[in-house]
Amino acid sequence: MTTTAVASPRFAFHNGEFVRADTVGLPVSTQALHYGTGVFEGIRAYAREGTAGLAVFRLREHLERLERSAGALRIRLPLTVDDMSDVVLDLLRRNGGDGDTYIRPLAYKLALEPGTPFGVRLSGVSAQFTLTTVRMGSYVRSEGLACKVSTFRRVPSVSIPSTAKITGTYANNALAVEEAYADGCDDALMLGLDGNLTEASTSNVFVVGRDGRIATPPVTADILPGITRATVIELLAREFGLPVAERPVGRAELDDAQEVFTTGTGVEVSAVTSIDHRPVSTGRAGDLTRRLRDVYTEVVRGRRPAYATWLTPVPPR
Ligand SMILES: Cc1ncc(COP(=O)(O)O)c(C=O)c1O
Repeated sequence: MTTTAVASPRFAFHNGEFVRADTVGLPVSTQALHYGTGVFEGIRAYAREGTAGLAVFRLREHLERLERSAGALRIRLPLTVDDMSDVVLDLLRRNGGDGDTYIRPLAYKLALEPGTPFGVRLSGVSAQFTLTTVRMGSYVRSEGLACKVSTFRRVPSVSIPSTAKITGTYANNALAVEEAYADGCDDALMLGLDGNLTEASTSNVFVVGRDGRIATPPVTADILPGITRATVIELLAREFGLPVAERPVGRAELDDAQEVFTTGTGVEVSAVTSIDHRPVSTGRAGDLTRRLRDVYTEVVRGRRPAYATWLTPVPPR
């Protein structure tokens, strides 16, 4: 994967106020730094055609997931979903510019409250909320991704709930992706403890079989239920008349697939063109993947009025 140049916006929202981004710092005693007890989101704001400005894609769904993730770690968010939404729009406005932007809300365990004994825990620990943005365009090569099936199994939900986007879990993803890089690949596909497919390092996975049927691992398969995954399931039904089976996907199905693609806020809709150095079908992005990617791009850029409710415009300054 190649990342486009990243510009640093001026402002962040930290501990209840807008501050200059380069002044935000955290004490080395920050609990989440030690124990991975933070939750986060990745959200994109897209430039719409002409002078229409930025609009955030599925903002509410992301903030609601943040709230649920926070609940899993007993983090009480200082803001409601509505208030966070206002803060996101305000920060985008303050940072200005009309280029595609990535939004990163982060809520994390900060410090032991008076009387709380030292140690790993969730109760008796204060929490803090920080919101940053960064300019970021599409970063996945449209010709597709080379993936490696990781030797690291996806952390199961019986260990850490996969439906929550918890910072500590991502050590697992980082190990998997680094192993993939070392093998000359772009991303890792992770199996669960049962040997079935779960997801990629930062995205969900769809498999199109030789019979044209589409499948993706169910929410019970230790995946993060992606907002892009839900979006794509809806687009495949409404725009292509194609149902998606949410069912266990075996490792062998990857070898026999006609198309494989990943979905996520960061990767958007990306073709997987090889797995463990074996081409997926022809080794080129499949027809359905390319058409779906085009529809997705039109939707997120506000060119499909039928999906306008998924976009929250950033009000002008
Ligand atoms: C592990 C993992 N799975 C799936 C996804 C895709 O989720 P979404 O489509 O909500 O971005 C992400 C990205 O957030 C992720 O980190």
